[in-house]
Amino acid sequence: MSGMPSAGPTPGKGAAVAAMFGRIAPRYDLVNRVLSLGVDRSWRRDAARSALAHAPARILDVATGTGDLALLLARGAGEGVVTGIDFSEEMLDLARAKAARQGVRVRLERADALALPFADASFDALTVAYGLRNFADVPAGLREMRRVLRAGGRLVVLEFPPPDDRPIGRAMRWYGRSVMPNLGGWLSGDRSAYAYLPASTHAFLEPERLADAMRAAGFGDVRYRLQTFGISALHVAVAA
Ligand SMILES: C[S@@+](CC[C@H](N)C(=O)[O-])C[C@H]1O[C@@H](n2cnc3c(N)ncnc32)[C@H](O)[C@@H]1O
Repeated sequence: MSGMPSAGPTPGKGAAVAAMFGRIAPRYDLVNRVLSLGVDRSWRRDAARSALAHAPARILDVATGTGDLALLLARGAGEGVVTGIDFSEEMLDLARAKAARQGVRVRLERADALALPFADASFDALTVAYGLRNFADVPAGLREMRRVLRAGGRLVVLEFPPPDDRPIGRAMRWYGRSVMPNLGGWLSGDRSAYAYLPASTHAFLEPERLADAMRAAGFGDVRYRLQTFGISALHVAVAA
C-alpha cells in the first residue's frame, strides 16, 4: 500500500486502509502521542476552535478514528450536536469508550466518507483530521463533504503536507522513513502501517494543491495555515 498515490481514485485502497486501522487501533493514541511528542493535541485544538468559530449547531467529524477531535468539538459546542463517522469499527469502539469515560455526548456511527449516510445540507460545520490522504478518492471525498454541508457551512481539514526541501522537510522525510516505521512498528506491532502512514504523507497534495482541490469540489474562501514549522496544515473553507 505504501507506494499508492493518495489523491486520484485508487481501487481497493478503502478496504486495505480500514483493515490497517482496525489492526493498529488499540495502540493508535499511544503511538500518536509518542511520534508527535504530544503536539498533535494542539493541532486538533486549533482545528476545533476554527470549526466552532460561528457556533455551528450540527457538526460532523469525518474519519473520526478514536474520536479525539469529535470529543474536543463536543466539549466546545454547547448545545451543538456532534457526529463522528469512521469506517473502522475498532477505532469507533475506542472512541465510544473514550466518550463514555469522559462523559461527553457524541454520536458515533460507522460510515464510509465517500458515501455519507446523510441528506444534503445536513451540517453547519465539518471536520476531517488526518483522514483525507487515506481516502481512495480524495476529490470524491471532498465533493461528498460539500454535499452534506449547508451553503455557507465551514470545512476544516487537518493534514500532513508532503515534506519539502527545507531542512525541516528533509528532517521529516528522514523521520518518516527511519524513525516512524521502527518506533511506530515497535509500539504498535505493525511496522507496515507505520511505513504506509509517512509514505502516504509524502505522496499527498501540497497545501496549495489541496486548496485547489477544495475549490474544485465546490468550496470558496479557502485558506490554510501551517502548524509547527509546516509539519501539519490546517485548511479552512466555506461551502459555496
Ligand atoms: C490517521 S486516522 C485519523 C483519526 C482521527 N481523525 C485523528 O485525528 O486521530 C485516519 C482515520 O480515517 C479513517 N478513514 C480512512 N478512510 C476512510 C473512509 N473512506 N471512510 C471513513 N473513515 C475513513 C480510518 O479508519 C482512520 O480511523
